[in-house]
Amino acid sequence: MKPLEKILRPELMEIPPYNTGLGLNEVKSRYGITAVAKLSSNENPTGPAPQVLECLSQTSSELYLYPDSEALLLRKAIARRLNVSEKRIIFGNGSEELISIICRSVVNPGDRVVTLYPSFPLHEDYTKLMGGSVERLAINDNLRIDLTKLIERAAQPAKLLIFANPMNPSGSWLNPEQLRQLFAAKHPETMLVLDEAYHEYAVHGNYTSGLDLTELIPGHWVVLRTFSKSWGLAGLRIGFGICSSTELCQALDRTRTPFNTNQLAQIAAKAALDHEDYMLHSVQQTILQRERLAKELRSRGYQVGESLGNFLFINIDHSSIKFAEELLKLGTIVKPWLQPGFDSFLRVSIGTPAENEKFLVDLDQIEAFR
Ligand SMILES: Cc1ncc(COP(=O)(O)O)c(C=O)c1O
Repeated sequence: MKPLEKILRPELMEIPPYNTGLGLNEVKSRYGITAVAKLSSNENPTGPAPQVLECLSQTSSELYLYPDSEALLLRKAIARRLNVSEKRIIFGNGSEELISIICRSVVNPGDRVVTLYPSFPLHEDYTKLMGGSVERLAINDNLRIDLTKLIERAAQPAKLLIFANPMNPSGSWLNPEQLRQLFAAKHPETMLVLDEAYHEYAVHGNYTSGLDLTELIPGHWVVLRTFSKSWGLAGLRIGFGICSSTELCQALDRTRTPFNTNQLAQIAAKAALDHEDYMLHSVQQTILQRERLAKELRSRGYQVGESLGNFLFINIDHSSIKFAEELLKLGTIVKPWLQPGFDSFLRVSIGTPAENEKFLVDLDQIEAFR
C-alpha cells in the first residue's frame, strides 16, 4: 500500500486543523455542568426571528425535493435590498464556502495572496491548499489594522487581497476614509475579497460597506456577507457574495456544487430578511453588551481591542489555551487564539447578558486563584 503522504497533496499537510473548539453539549457532558455559556464562535444567541422558525415548520413536506440551485426567492430579495443585479450574487454553504470557491477558482501555485494577521484562518488555509503563497500583514500593537503598511502591500500586484472588515479576531476596522485610501492604492490586477461577515454590527460605528464605494475599486472584487452572525442562522449554513461583474459571478459559479445551499437555509434566510426588525434589535443589545463587557475588562487591566464585531479580543498575558481550559471547567467556552504572537489572547463572543456576566465571574474566579 502506498503511504498516505504519497497520495495526499503536500499542501494539505501544511494546513492546521480548524479550531472549532468544543460544542455546548460536549462541554455539558464532559464537565457535568448544565449552565454553559458558549462564547467561542461569534454566533448570535438570540437566534432568528420567531417568524423564521414558523416558516421552517411549514416546509417539511418539500424535503424530498432538491433545493433551488439558484436560490431564486432569496436572490431576488437580496438583489432588491442591496440594489444589485441578481446575476452578480453567488450563494455559499456559509460564506466560508465562498472563500473556498474563490480560492479554488483563482489561486494558482505560487500566487501571492495578501491578508491580515491574525485573521480568520480560512482566508489563509484555502490559499495554502491551492499552493498559493500567503503574505501576512500584522495588526499593530494597539490591535488595529496598519493602514500605511496595508496600502504599501496592496499597491504591489498580487492574485488576491483578502481580509475581513471589521476583521476577526481583533474587531478592528477600516473607516470609510481609510477604505477609500486602500481602494485608491490597490493594484488593478489584484482581486479584492472583502469579507463583511460582521457588517450588521459595524454599521452602527464609523464604518461603511465596500458596496457603498464600489466605483472606487480598481479591478475585480467580491464582497462577502453571511446569515450566520447577526441573523442568527449559523446552524443552517448560508452566506452570499456580491461580485464586481456578472462574468466573475458566472465563473465562480462553476466551482460551486449545484445544490450547495439547502432548502431550509434559503427559506430561513429569506424569512429573516422579511423580519429585519428582530435582527436590528438583537444587534443593538449586543453592542450595548459589548461596550459594557469591554469596559469591565479594561477596568480589570486587560488590553481589549476596539471592536465593531460581536466579539472582543482580550490579552490575558498568559497562555490562552490553559486559561480557556480553566474557563471550560467552569462552563464558559471561549476561543483561545493559537496563532503565533497572539497566543496570550482570548476571543470572546458577546452572548446574552447572563452569559457575559458568567464569563466575568468565571474569569475573576480563575484570576483569584492564579
Ligand atoms: C471573518 C469571517 N468570515 C467568514 C466567517 C464564516 O461565516 P459562515 O458561517 O458564513 O461560513 C466567519 C465566521 O466566524 C468570520 O469570522
